[in-house]
Amino acid sequence: MEMRCSVGAQVLQILGLVLFLGIHCCEAIARHTFVIKETPYTWLCSTKSILTVNGQFPGPTLYAHKGDTVTVDVYNKANYNITIHWHGVKQPRNPWHNGPEYITQCPIKPGGKFTQNVTFSLEEGTLWWHAHSDWSRATVHGAIIVYPKNSTSYAFDKPHVEVPIVLGEWWKQDIVDIYDEFRESGGDPNTSDAYLINGQPGDLYPCSKQDTFKLAVDYGKTYLLRLINAAMQDILFFAIANHQVTVVGTDASYTKPLKVDYIAISPGQTIDLLLEANQPKDHYYMAARVYSSAAGVTYDNTTTTALIQYKGRYTPSSPPPLPYLPYYNDTASSVNFTGRLRSLARGDHPISVPQNVTHKFLFTISVNTFPCANDSCAGPNGSRLAASMNNVSFVSPSIDILQAYYHRIKGVYGNRFPSEPPLKFNYTADYLPLALETPQNGTEVKVIEYNSTVEMVLQGTNLVAGTDHPMHLHGTSFYVVGWGFGNFDKKKDPKNYNLVDPPLQNTIAVPKNGWAAVRFQAFNPGVWFMHCHLERHLTWGMEMAFIVKNGPTPDSQILPPPPDMPPC
Ligand code: C2O
Ligand code: CU
Repeated sequence: MEMRCSVGAQVLQILGLVLFLGIHCCEAIARHTFVIKETPYTWLCSTKSILTVNGQFPGPTLYAHKGDTVTVDVYNKANYNITIHWHGVKQPRNPWHNGPEYITQCPIKPGGKFTQNVTFSLEEGTLWWHAHSDWSRATVHGAIIVYPKNSTSYAFDKPHVEVPIVLGEWWKQDIVDIYDEFRESGGDPNTSDAYLINGQPGDLYPCSKQDTFKLAVDYGKTYLLRLINAAMQDILFFAIANHQVTVVGTDASYTKPLKVDYIAISPGQTIDLLLEANQPKDHYYMAARVYSSAAGVTYDNTTTTALIQYKGRYTPSSPPPLPYLPYYNDTASSVNFTGRLRSLARGDHPISVPQNVTHKFLFTISVNTFPCANDSCAGPNGSRLAASMNNVSFVSPSIDILQAYYHRIKGVYGNRFPSEPPLKFNYTADYLPLALETPQNGTEVKVIEYNSTVEMVLQGTNLVAGTDHPMHLHGTSFYVVGWGFGNFDKKKDPKNYNLVDPPLQNTIAVPKNGWAAVRFQAFNPGVWFMHCHLERHLTWGMEMAFIVKNGPTPDSQILPPPPDMPPC
């Protein structure tokens, strides 16, 4: 594939910019090598070995233009099974290279290799990639930047500089031990020790003075911050002291410009922000901290920071100003931001919201408990914590669903995922009978016809502890046409749907004891995972999969499996 440097020629007047373009355009080569390996890292005065890609943390950024295909050779040089997922990349007709373990592939074993094509189609903006096996995504993740096609431009004035901002979460202990202990105990996982901005905690932690991401800015310039929440367990609030930011995109789709003082970002979600360096020259903190709505669930209450440093000669304030961030359980502030996102929906960036639907699904999303022998588990009253969708707590199969579907292997999964909650109750009541807490185990999928149009209402429940659930769908994005608190009312609520400019997302934070309604067209045949992007809920079973059947023509059918699929 040729280098795409022609745009660089148009901006010869600013050397720095040319360099910047030069770097980004020439990294858009078609083939990359990802070597997964153990790498020693030191933060907060303790050293441990983490899994990385190519020794980098966060991992390397992938650059592409809309419509490109990028090939990645993934080598597993670690001692654990691993898979890599391209979060938000639709991968048309190619579920084989999507990545979730035991859903579309078996993991790459130590010493193994798997070549994945990352096929961009409608996406434009920021996405990310991450491991999709056990909890390895804690350190195995990185940004994906999708530029407009060469002859087209952004939906906003071209920023002077672009910066990926990857929000992460850090445990001093080995993540494998955290995960094993968590599974073993049946309770909540140990809370993390720090949040990170671009791999660094910032100087509000003990022993982290040097470990701060710094962004030097020129007064008067505009910066495009490509924010990714790669944290494991919580939604985060994020803000920059003394600066408003303008949201211009989410999940690789343009939004109407939205000027705000703070944002809320879910694990899995990406948000593109414009930052104008228009304040008095000084140093300013950007900061992120948890939004955690579940009563009684502990969380990492630390604040991670990075620094915006204006260039020039002056004496910076000491300490630099910190931004205001909403309180940790401020649900109103979270939905107040998330509920204001709108698709750009402009002539040059049209949208197509399904106006009529062929399937209406209502899926409850619940935290649950299983009884535990002698009440000896670490969940409430000695129970084992679990989670479910429509009361089915997902059990991972031992060979992947895609393979079983394609080769018609029986006994791997069932196609009886319920369209409606099997148990109807007042989902969001303050007190719910204990008997409702226990789900069924199962490996059930929902099979839908090619090109059907789906409305899916995700209904939170107050079982065990009501909380927000950032629900993520593979293989397509959906329009978030409505949301609310309490129980979804199928007569009243659809009247208030936004079918004009709803945001197009791949992850939606369903609010605590509330619901969200999404619509999508099933134009992508394959097996597509749907799950809560809070890692503990995913491990507990808050997931299911859609099978979108083949269409009538060869170009509406799943591609044949690549020859190097990792063996099960
Ligand atoms: Cu971010 Cu199933 O993925
Ligand atoms: Cu959840």
